[in-house]
Amino acid sequence: MRNMNFNDMLSARTKEVGLVVETYLPPVEGYQSTVLAAMDYSVRAGGKRLRPMLMEETYRLFGGNGKEIEPFMAAMEMIHTSSLIHDDLPCMDNDTLRRGLPTAWVKFGYDMAVLAGDGLLIYSMETAAKALSMTDRPDLVARCMGILAEKTGIHGMIGGQTVDVELAGKPIPKEKLHFIYRLKTGALLEASMMIGALLGGADERQLKLVENMASCLGMAFQIQDDILDLTSSAEVLGKPVHSDEKNHKTTYVTLEGIKKAKQDVEMISEEAISCLHELPGQNEFLEALIRMLVNREK
Ligand code: IPE
Ligand code: IPE
Ligand code: MG
Ligand code: MG
Ligand code: MG
Repeated sequence: MRNMNFNDMLSARTKEVGLVVETYLPPVEGYQSTVLAAMDYSVRAGGKRLRPMLMEETYRLFGGNGKEIEPFMAAMEMIHTSSLIHDDLPCMDNDTLRRGLPTAWVKFGYDMAVLAGDGLLIYSMETAAKALSMTDRPDLVARCMGILAEKTGIHGMIGGQTVDVELAGKPIPKEKLHFIYRLKTGALLEASMMIGALLGGADERQLKLVENMASCLGMAFQIQDDILDLTSSAEVLGKPVHSDEKNHKTTYVTLEGIKKAKQDVEMISEEAISCLHELPGQNEFLEALIRMLVNREK
């Protein structure tokens, strides 16, 4: 696939996926409209829509062609956005810019940002449950809801964020940093691709491969995020740079140096690609998407 071609496809897909996500947002109305406005603002601010995109592309890889994937795509982006709202709070990374706009707590206040994160998190479950009436395999949908909750919760993203926040300003040994990245970033990518795979018809062995592939992708993705925090600009990223330094975070870059970090992003992404090649079916766009993430600038 030529580069030009891929970039056009990527922006078309980002728009399509964004529309699916927005369809499931609750209307901003009623006495609680402030929190609904904060939820709406944070999701509509945009972002790469990477997780729902990976979910749908994995679904397609396995031959999925129904609509029951859509509530899960929306649910995943809601969970991811809630994690960003909370990650930016003054008690966490204390950042003021996200997706090119003031962060939720800057715009709506600390109190409303906490509630908006909570609101999105649980609305994601309400949203995913809508897939139950769109499928003839409610057993699979129920299993996917379980995966979604598990990979988000204390044994997934929230667990990773716990250790990340707790160890800010402290030295972190390699294994522990690996744990943080696998959970805080990897877990939601794993859930995204596993749900796509399961609803698309993957068997247990294939599901395990998909989980491994997404775990590698998550690791590479977070290392690249650390690199960009150091080398990019707020204009390009849409979020502040040097946030890690400000918070005295030990990152892959502080631990390994930028050169090794860059090499490892390449190497770990290649591992993800080789998992992809072990799976049946072909999805050129998915492969190109994984490769793009290595060289991404935002
Ligand atoms: C940011 O995720 C948080 C990390 C896990 C590094 P993204 O880089 O996918 O953020 P958006 O969705 O594009 O804003
Ligand atoms: C956060 O990692 C991952 C989440 C679960 C939100 P970072 O704190 O590095 O993410 P950014 O750089 O603020 O997007
Ligand atoms: Mg953080
Ligand atoms: Mg942060
Ligand atoms: Mg970061």
